[in-house]
Amino acid sequence: MRYGQRRVLDDIRVPALTAGSLTALIGPNAAGKSTLLRGVAGLAPASGRVLLDGEDLARSPQAERARRMAYLPQTLPGRSRLGVFEAVLSAAMAARPGRGHAAAADLHAVDAVLARLDLTALADRGIDALSGGQRQRVGLAQALVRDPAVLLLDEPTSALDLHHQYRAVDVIRRETRARGLITLLVVHDINLALRFADRVLVLHDGRLVADGKPGAVIDRELLARVYRVDGEVTGIGGRPTVLVHGVVRRPHSGAGRREADAIGNP
Ligand SMILES: Nc1ncnc2c1ncn2[C@@H]1O[C@H](COP(=O)(O)OP(=O)(O)O)[C@@H](O)[C@H]1O
Ligand SMILES: [Mg+2]
Repeated sequence: MRYGQRRVLDDIRVPALTAGSLTALIGPNAAGKSTLLRGVAGLAPASGRVLLDGEDLARSPQAERARRMAYLPQTLPGRSRLGVFEAVLSAAMAARPGRGHAAAADLHAVDAVLARLDLTALADRGIDALSGGQRQRVGLAQALVRDPAVLLLDEPTSALDLHHQYRAVDVIRRETRARGLITLLVVHDINLALRFADRVLVLHDGRLVADGKPGAVIDRELLARVYRVDGEVTGIGGRPTVLVHGVVRRPHSGAGRREADAIGNP
């Protein structure tokens, strides 16, 4: 994938993602994560192919691709006069074309997704009167209610407080498992990836540099090389957790703490 003459993603071969599994797509700023998601969604030109159940998606109309893949962009949902319930219901209806009016099942699906994302109390509130994090949860509700085969979520937790970050990713994982979705989730918080993802893909400078189970992929060497931090993965309360000691100022100079500047120390 390229912007003008500049090649952003080169020779990316994403391994097959299985139904019912949550894959975290991680990597530093500008690695190409959003570009890759747009390419998979068919929203930006890409050379190469995207296959779903072996079928080349470029051969089906974009509307059909959009029906099978729910894509949540990194930007928060824009201004809208709709209320929260209406906005999520209209997403549900858009995903089931040919249905003239909302059926009871659609209304139930909207109620259920609002409850899971802690939005029930805001159901009648206008989108314009929501905070950034509340709007982001509405965007996520709209993606989930579409009931797609593939869920492409670009930093859906970036504006959320801790409670709603964990709650949202837990809901994403549950829905992925229960409905057999193929879910690709861009997330910056490595601890969220460690906790919830079945698998992690790491993008760095437009290349896929690691792929595997979170515990196998995320280690001291990756933190230094890709994220330029001096950190470690350690067990806290029985859970693998990333601790960052400092930033590595000089890239590619090794992973030792000697090259790192400690942060937060007086
Ligand atoms: N619309 C665009 N036009 C030109 N360059 C872009 C555009 N969008 C992104 N880029 C560039 O492509 C690279 C990858 O961007 P992006 O996919 O947004 O990264 P990420 O989501 O990993 O932070 C960056 O160098 C960015 O500056
Ligand atoms: Mg991005």
